[in-house]
Amino acid sequence: MKQRVFSGARPTGRQHIGNYLGAIRNYVALQEQYDCIYCVVDIHALTSLEETDRLQESIHEMMLDWLAAGLDPQRSILFVQSHVPEVMELHTLLSMVTPLGWLLRVPTFKEKARMQPHNVNYGLVGYPVLMTADIVLYKAEVVPVGEDQLPHLELAREIARRFNSIFGPTFPEPQSKLTSFPLVLGLNGAQKMGKTYDNYIELAATPEETSKLVMTAVTDPARRYRSDLGHPEVCNVFNLHHFFSSARVDEIAVECRSAGIGCVDCKKLLAQGINSELEGFRERRAAFAARPQCVAEALSGGSRQAQVIAKETLAEVKEKMGLVQRSV
Ligand code: TRP
Repeated sequence: MKQRVFSGARPTGRQHIGNYLGAIRNYVALQEQYDCIYCVVDIHALTSLEETDRLQESIHEMMLDWLAAGLDPQRSILFVQSHVPEVMELHTLLSMVTPLGWLLRVPTFKEKARMQPHNVNYGLVGYPVLMTADIVLYKAEVVPVGEDQLPHLELAREIARRFNSIFGPTFPEPQSKLTSFPLVLGLNGAQKMGKTYDNYIELAATPEETSKLVMTAVTDPARRYRSDLGHPEVCNVFNLHHFFSSARVDEIAVECRSAGIGCVDCKKLLAQGINSELEGFRERRAAFAARPQCVAEALSGGSRQAQVIAKETLAEVKEKMGLVQRSV
């Protein structure tokens, strides 16, 4: 039997190339070897009440990107977290076996509390418990995540272990699976590419928009003049060539080091690379966008399948916790 993969992503609307290289591409590849469940975590998104008026649009845009990138509702379960409300029940039950001290120590909690001091809500503390519920509700064994999620996954294992030791073997301890392209920096070369920093290129951008954005990217700071020799190993644009111009990446490195090409030339090559790599994606996305019911159908089918598994796990948990009569 295939192992089960589960991963969740917050609904952040149109996805950018950082999401693609860091997560989506990996999700697509895992479909070959695993039974995959991918979830848009809309309840988690409520821990910071920023964009609730745009939540539905965000989910839709993100799903268009997922489908166009090759997440296939025939092979994987794609669904929205709140459409399978059993996760909230399991969250409450798991909260009873989770010491508060574990949660208060989580680095992302401390960070969030610092970032939104006006809104340090109870849900924020429970964020990793809800994430654990996501994973163990489906008894998933493998969880593809970025490095920033490792503390959450460690906690998920601890909660699963603790539940198992109190109530008997129930959940597998989920293992993380890091992507091979873990950190994608933004155009400014300073932080991770992300919506918060306005340093990203959307997958759905037009070729012209993409080229324009790439031309703004920060390169090796030591190359101020066209004749300065470059250091590809410290250059974020070069880093992206690894993926988007893989056939020419060695040649580009040589040309950069010897100042055979300047940063402007190099960025033009990168824009071409991105645009040709994403051409098929963009065509598929436009086709899905023209038939928005594709998204609704994928999601309703996905939540139906997910709910079958969820109900089964929840019944088992309730019985083990003594909430219902034990069956013999
Ligand atoms: N916390 C994850 C993030 O911010 C999203 C997430 C929610 C998740 N539930 C999950 C990831 C379950 C993996 C498994 O990116």
